[in-house]
Amino acid sequence: MTAAPGLRLEVLPEGQWAETVAQALLERLVANPRLRLCLPTGDTPTPVYARLAVLDRAGRPGAWAQATAVLLDEWVGLPAGDPARCDRRITQDLLDGLAPPPRFIPIEVDGDDPEAAAARHDVAATGLDLGVLGLGMNGHIGFNEPGSRPDDPTRLVRLAVSSRDAATARYGAARTPTAGITIGVARLLEAHEVWLLVTGERKASILRRALREPEGPDCPASYLLRHRRLTVFADEAAAATL
Ligand code: PGA
Repeated sequence: MTAAPGLRLEVLPEGQWAETVAQALLERLVANPRLRLCLPTGDTPTPVYARLAVLDRAGRPGAWAQATAVLLDEWVGLPAGDPARCDRRITQDLLDGLAPPPRFIPIEVDGDDPEAAAARHDVAATGLDLGVLGLGMNGHIGFNEPGSRPDDPTRLVRLAVSSRDAATARYGAARTPTAGITIGVARLLEAHEVWLLVTGERKASILRRALREPEGPDCPASYLLRHRRLTVFADEAAAATL
C-alpha cells in the first residue's frame, strides 16, 4: 500500500454519496464565499450538481454569488453551443440551477489559437481553493491522459482513444474531437485542496490503481497522492476493492 498522509477517503453508501458531496461543497462555500474552484463535467458529478440546485433553492440565497467556477477541461473543435461541449453541459447541469450562479470561467476554445487559449486558462487555474475532479476509466483527471506528468501546466492535449470513445458513445461519432484543453496536473497539485469523485463498480479497479499502487504516468490520478489535502469521495461500489 502507498503511504499517503494527505489522503482522506470517504466511502459512502450509493444513496448518500451525492448528498454528502453537495453538503461538503456548501460547507466550503459558507467558510469561504469567494471560493475559487474548478469543476468537471461527466456522469459522476451530475447527481451532485442536481442536488446543489435543489439545496440552492431551499437554502441560503446567493450562496454562490461571490464564488468563481473554473472549467476543468474542454473539447477543441466543437462549435460554441454544441451539446457535447463541457461549457454547455456544466451550464445545464449546474449553473442554470443556481441563483445567482458563480462567476464562470470557460475555456476559450473558439479562436484559432488553442495554445493561447490554454495559456490563458492556465492563469485562470492558478490559485484554486478547491479542485474537484472525476476519475477516467484510464486514470485520467480532466484530460490529463496517461503519459501526463505532475509538472504539466494547463495545455492543449491529444485525447486518449478511451476518452474519444466515451464522447462518441454519448454524443455520436460526428462529435468526437481528438484534442482538448485541460487544467494541468501541476495546477491541480497547487490547489489548496483537491477532491476526487468516484462512483460505480466499473471505476473500482482504476481507483485501486490510483490509490494503492506507486504513482506513475500510466495513471495520472495517482499523482494526486502527493497532495497534502486530498479527499476521495467514493461510493461503496467504487471503493469495493480498496
Ligand atoms: P464520468 O467521466 O464521470 O462520465 O465517468 C469521468 C472522466 O472521464 O473524467
